[in-house]
Amino acid sequence: MQQGVVDEQGFQCAFCMPGFVMAATGYLKTNSNPSRQELAHGISGNLCRCQDYDKILTAMMRGAEYMRKG
Ligand code: FES
Repeated sequence: MQQGVVDEQGFQCAFCMPGFVMAATGYLKTNSNPSRQELAHGISGNLCRCQDYDKILTAMMRGAEYMRKG
């Protein structure tokens, strides 16, 4: 997941990053191959002050892909 964040540069200030990484990693334990919409729902409890949710979700999807590949 962390590599997905690095590769996609998914955060602006990164204040919210730990919460998103933990939420996404936890969600992937229940659904390892989510659609973009499913993952968005899975991490929806987190807020980002910079509000670039599209980039964050792209980074989380890349992280999910890496986690599936092991
Ligand atoms: S990237 Fe700044 S609060 Fe989320």
